[in-house]
Amino acid sequence: MEQNARELLELAQRVARRAAETARRTRTEAIGQVDTKSTATDVVTAADRAVERQIVEELRAVRPGDGFLGEEYGVQEDDAASGVRWVIDPIDGTVNYLYGLPQYAVSIAAEADGEVIAGVVVNAASGEEWHATLGGGAWRGDRRLSGSTQTVLAQALVGTGFAYSAERRAVQGAVVAGLITRVRDIRRFGSAALDLCAAAEGMLDAYYERGLNPWDLAAGGLIAREAGLLVTGLSGKPAGADLALAAPPALHKQLHDQLVELDADSGP
Ligand code: IPD
Ligand code: CA
Ligand code: CA
Repeated sequence: MEQNARELLELAQRVARRAAETARRTRTEAIGQVDTKSTATDVVTAADRAVERQIVEELRAVRPGDGFLGEEYGVQEDDAASGVRWVIDPIDGTVNYLYGLPQYAVSIAAEADGEVIAGVVVNAASGEEWHATLGGGAWRGDRRLSGSTQTVLAQALVGTGFAYSAERRAVQGAVVAGLITRVRDIRRFGSAALDLCAAAEGMLDAYYERGLNPWDLAAGGLIAREAGLLVTGLSGKPAGADLALAAPPALHKQLHDQLVELDADSGP
């Protein structure tokens, strides 16, 4: 069934704005109820769960035939008849949320037959919002985004992130150590979805990270791509858990080749 990306986007925007409001409003209470997941530093607050439940309930009320992949509750209605699946990170940047750093976001993407066709990211602390539809461009409000015009890697401000596992971090740290002398500087803001939006907007010249999950990458990846960035893995692979690199065409090969040299997509 042909899906209307615009309609899916508008629904996602309404739902994401309300979800962001819930996250912001319930923060004080939610951060008192914290559990850990994969490691002692991989936290989940009551709000991560409540916000995902709210998002799924609201989407389901409008589109009962769709499937879901969310960070906290996993796959629901995997064999959805509509061909649409929603990929949801209820709070991307949970550690920032916990500490009150204003860099945490709701990320919602709609996939049709496995391809992301609409995505929205809302910074829940500030209300800033980015969105894209497949073929329809990337936008911050009514401003169309086209990424950075930087062409020299040595002058590029590069965002990245680190996994929750100490073993993987050791390797990621070594990659950063190798890269930091070859770029302007490195930023680690703590929300992959917002990092991708920042790269789409040119607030970062480029971004890469190893170990992303589909919900970290779905909406922000479309936004970056629609802003004209190349969003890939290394050596011809698609962006994914091994590595996601988002960079304007003029920087992509330069950063790609450095990351290959530093073996950024291998190890634990
Ligand atoms: C994390 C953030 C972080 C990135 C990690 C993600 P979470 O997501 O996006 O910036 O470095 O890889 O897991 O746990 O806050 O949803
Ligand atoms: Ca995340
Ligand atoms: Ca999350």
